[in-house]
Amino acid sequence: MRDKNRINSTDDSKYISGPRSLFGWRMNMLRFYRNPFTYSRWLYDEYGKIVALGQGDSPTYVFAFGPEYNQQILTDPDLFEISSSLLKVPEDSLLGRMFYNNLILMTGEKHKKHRRLMQPAFHRQQIVSYCNDMVQLTDLLGDDWEKKAQIELNHEMKKLTQRIAVKTLFGLYNEEELDQMGEYIHKMTKSMLWITLIPVNIPGTPYHQAVHCAEQLDTKIRAMIARKRLETNATDVLASLVQARDEDGTQLSDEELVGHAFTLYVAGHETTANALTWSIFLLSQHPNILTNLLEELDGVLKGSDPTLEKLASLSLLDGVIKESLRLLPPAGIGVRITSRSCELGGFTIPKGTNVFFNQMITHRLPDLYEEPDRFKPERWSSIKRSPYEYLPFSAGQHMCIGWNFATQEMKVVLARLLQRFRFALIPGSKISPNMMMRPIHGMPMKVVLQDGNFSKTSVKGKINQYVNLSF
Ligand code: HEM
Repeated sequence: MRDKNRINSTDDSKYISGPRSLFGWRMNMLRFYRNPFTYSRWLYDEYGKIVALGQGDSPTYVFAFGPEYNQQILTDPDLFEISSSLLKVPEDSLLGRMFYNNLILMTGEKHKKHRRLMQPAFHRQQIVSYCNDMVQLTDLLGDDWEKKAQIELNHEMKKLTQRIAVKTLFGLYNEEELDQMGEYIHKMTKSMLWITLIPVNIPGTPYHQAVHCAEQLDTKIRAMIARKRLETNATDVLASLVQARDEDGTQLSDEELVGHAFTLYVAGHETTANALTWSIFLLSQHPNILTNLLEELDGVLKGSDPTLEKLASLSLLDGVIKESLRLLPPAGIGVRITSRSCELGGFTIPKGTNVFFNQMITHRLPDLYEEPDRFKPERWSSIKRSPYEYLPFSAGQHMCIGWNFATQEMKVVLARLLQRFRFALIPGSKISPNMMMRPIHGMPMKVVLQDGNFSKTSVKGKINQYVNLSF
């Protein structure tokens, strides 16, 4: 049902259009959360670049599609704010200090200062030093796969990126310690929804379990910080953060360091695991592209370790990663809240409006991407897109600080695994991504030593709405 919702226009005769439901905007939001991609696509096709899901109750929900709005929203963080209002953890609690002390929730000068202090840990030169760890941990996982015939790829990618994150962030070597650290953080974050819904610290509740894990983590990270203050030659991210000093001599406090370390781990590993999962999936469904990629890898690397110089000359691998992040970005829809009344696309938007920007729709605009639903890594050798036209890592002040790290990690892991193994999706598998691009029914893959014997398999599930797999 079409309707003009009642958000004012600067020209008083105009209202933002959008769908109407007997149950108001809540029903529309439910539809959106159930099927974020198809619902967004329908909104865009039906109503255009700016759509409102209703006004009646405050706050309202506005969807803004396309590069111009991405730019307007992402370059004005004081107006389009990131909100932490969903997080119901008290700020002065241990959990609160871990959850709130992070870049994404910081604003203005504080954000700039912390980002400046953290930047050296993500400089290209610093990230190069993580290359060996990435290779070794990938090989270790591969050794384990040689004993298996079938794997759940997303689970395995999470295990790998978790180990790489703990190793490169904290400098831990011991495999048991690597997994234990990851386990604590996993337990803390897996029940975020319950922690938010029932923030009650009594034994048996998810909140209580999260507090217990937070205590263990806090103690561990603080002990590591104390060690790193004495070491001068450690090269991990935490060591770099410990040593970071602003022009005026300010350093990050222990509390801030714990918060940043925790967030870097959380922000970095699942996103990268999902991106790797989809890259392997897309390649397994495009045997010709995979054949060409393997030729490129064999030609440049000849079985040797993927050093950074060699990675830089792998143009098809670069295109595969860009294309996978274009079609299936692990953070494909973002939201901001207006801090005051403002103008967007000729309409007056009230203070407190939730404004959604949408990488997934931007990445499928036919003016920007020919045959937008096809996986065509080769397109990247002839196109260049602005930060607001291609934004898997977002753009503006809050653009992902780990984009370089993630890209290098994806290149190393893919180069190493594809040379060693052939992946084949179990025929007829149901493959459906959720909002965060996690395949909700998993990604069951047969894994055998690489023999170049590629063929695509039939796929069921929502993935067919995201990508045209018929080529
Ligand atoms: C494929 C992997 C990744 C994707 C797709 C991704 C995506 C994103 C996106 C879209 C944002 C901005 C969110 C917004 O504007 O609302 C972001 C921010 C951030 N990411 Fe990533 N990320 C990835 C990997 C990583 C890694 C490996 C790290 C760290 C090791 C990391 C750390 C962060 C941090 C700290 C922020 C907040 C930056 C700020 O507010 O200034 N991410 N990421």
